[in-house]
Amino acid sequence: MAAAAAPAIPVLVAGGVAALVLKFFSRRPPAAPEIQEEASDDGKDASSAPEVPPITLSWHKICCALQAKDGITTVKRLLKNLSGEAKAGRLLAIMGPSGSGKTTILNVLAGQLAASPRLKLTGLLFVNGTPCVSTSYKVAYVRQEDLFFSQLTVRETLSLAAELQLPGSSTAAERSRYVDDILQRLGLVRCADTPVGDAKVRGISGGEKKRLSIACELIASPSVIFADEPTTGLDAFQAEQVMETLKKLAQDGHTVVCSIHQPRGSIYSKFDDLLLLSEGSVIYAGPAQNEALAYFAGLGHSCPEHVNPAEFFADLISIDYSSPEKESASRKRVEAFVEIFATTLYATRSLSGTEPAPVKLSTQHVTQQKVGWWKQFRLLFRRAWLQAIRDGPTNKVRSRMSVAAAMIFGSIYWRMGRSQTSIQDRMGLLQVAAVNTAMAALTKTVNVFPKERAIVDRERAKGSYGLAPYLAAKLIAEMPIGAAFPLLFGAILYPMARLHPSAKRFGSFSSIVTVESFAASAMGLCVGAMVPSTEAAMALGPSLMTVFIVFGGYYVNSENAPVMFRWIPRVSLIRWAFQALCINEFKGLKFECDKPYDLPNGEQALERLGFGDSTINKAMVEEGRILLFWYTMTYALMRKNKPRYQRIVAPDESS
Ligand SMILES: Nc1ncnc2c1ncn2[C@@H]1O[C@H](COP(=O)(O)OP(=O)(O)O)[C@@H](O)[C@H]1O
Ligand SMILES: [Mg+2]
Repeated sequence: MAAAAAPAIPVLVAGGVAALVLKFFSRRPPAAPEIQEEASDDGKDASSAPEVPPITLSWHKICCALQAKDGITTVKRLLKNLSGEAKAGRLLAIMGPSGSGKTTILNVLAGQLAASPRLKLTGLLFVNGTPCVSTSYKVAYVRQEDLFFSQLTVRETLSLAAELQLPGSSTAAERSRYVDDILQRLGLVRCADTPVGDAKVRGISGGEKKRLSIACELIASPSVIFADEPTTGLDAFQAEQVMETLKKLAQDGHTVVCSIHQPRGSIYSKFDDLLLLSEGSVIYAGPAQNEALAYFAGLGHSCPEHVNPAEFFADLISIDYSSPEKESASRKRVEAFVEIFATTLYATRSLSGTEPAPVKLSTQHVTQQKVGWWKQFRLLFRRAWLQAIRDGPTNKVRSRMSVAAAMIFGSIYWRMGRSQTSIQDRMGLLQVAAVNTAMAALTKTVNVFPKERAIVDRERAKGSYGLAPYLAAKLIAEMPIGAAFPLLFGAILYPMARLHPSAKRFGSFSSIVTVESFAASAMGLCVGAMVPSTEAAMALGPSLMTVFIVFGGYYVNSENAPVMFRWIPRVSLIRWAFQALCINEFKGLKFECDKPYDLPNGEQALERLGFGDSTINKAMVEEGRILLFWYTMTYALMRKNKPRYQRIVAPDESS
């Protein structure tokens, strides 16, 4: 049957791609030059830091308010008239109780406050004394949660970031040296070849993850480094190491700004400058050490000896909600601090040190040079491939599930004969095969993709690569692994149930379920691109699929479906797979007949299902269209949902 041969093509293509890919990667990537791991792996080694243009960042009267839907009424003031500065070569810590606006001010300074029509952001930013738009200098932003591809090693993660972010003019050897140097500076040499890991597979420690996040951000030699709560969730030792790393970066000439919640005394002693926030207002901004203590002592609040200043400040500026009296007293105290600080302008006096001469920010320092499309594709393909093949736990579960499902259905439909009742059994089995294949592919994708999307969104926001090479690389790299499971399922089920005994028919069966599985994955991607979290995707994906199952050709004959629902079977990936599987199975099959109304052959069974005048090719073309539709939708959604940032407007402009 010529029609049956056509769907074999995708499997052949997938197989071919798999073979090529395997060949390509069976050669191990050239090992990076061995680094002599010196005694020091704690980030305090002597490896040289690249020069970065010194940047003093100052901000004036930053206000951020959340407005009601009417766009006029202010619901909440997130930041109230914040002014301050961060200097090159100094570590500025932003401290304050949770909800005081630390993350918000960091987002504003990094130019990465998520845009929202309900937010109003005003204020002025200056770079070395010159008013600036937020993107006119290179920033690194280490966010609170560390997101990585779990199966890549530390070195691979960093190398990929280097390949994507460093201008094409540098040679591979230079880039490799650069990566080694950063590994050394951040004390990551010891875990360089360990996979990052995730909840399923143990990888590097939390502190190492944080330092890897910093390392990835350092690739582009940023002048300013922001870090949002870099020590949260780490044990004391790891927190100390991370802060030591940041301190060292400041000493190397970077401007480092981090938010932190209740640091230990030893960490506090590393801070050069301090910004204390409470409920979006500045309580203190200025040098962190003796000056800060002297300032509060001057207001009648002396820090007792041997008390960690961070804890002392935290107690001073927190609102105590334990009773109405305490709340009112603490609120009064905080409000007094805010007022005194605003009127004494302590900040201006204490911070007006030597300002570095304005640096001409050449565009070379600022604009991100993207590597070419093909190279982006190649790099992202390699990452997607490594992530797919190395993800042992997921692949193990998927293969076990495929085998178990095939064995269960194979036992239930064990060696179907040619009796009249076997017609119903066949239809049931083929529907079950179509549903199982689609569900397996869908759940895997919706489970994994939202997490990956969060990483990709961040990388795209940095301008590391385009969406098209990313999606193309992902789809092709995951094809061989994606095809393996439906093939495994089919290979066990087919002989057990004794479906149409012909090698060609088996080939078609395998191709149909493989293509269907790709279509279901594509749908999973689209669902993952549509909603913000894995949980939401897990709720939406299967519910949507259930609709397609109901209209999958078995439960409701599409000719009998109410007119308003007739379109659903046409877009149901289950229906087209079921239809193709039925045609593949029933065409040319003869059944035992005793009674006059018995169905003598498969063609009549197909008539009864409403598939009489269809072919496998036609069904697979429709399936292909559905697949393309979901891919296109994914692309469009991801493009549309690209992170956008709130623009800061000068105070007078906004009024
Ligand atoms: N986009 C937003 N929409 C509404 N409220 C927000 C938004 N961003 C932050 N907030 C609120 O602003 C306050 C400060 O948040 P945040 O800066 O995250 O605090 P911190 O990092 O100090 O814990 C919180 O009460 C938070 O709920
Ligand atoms: Mg925060």
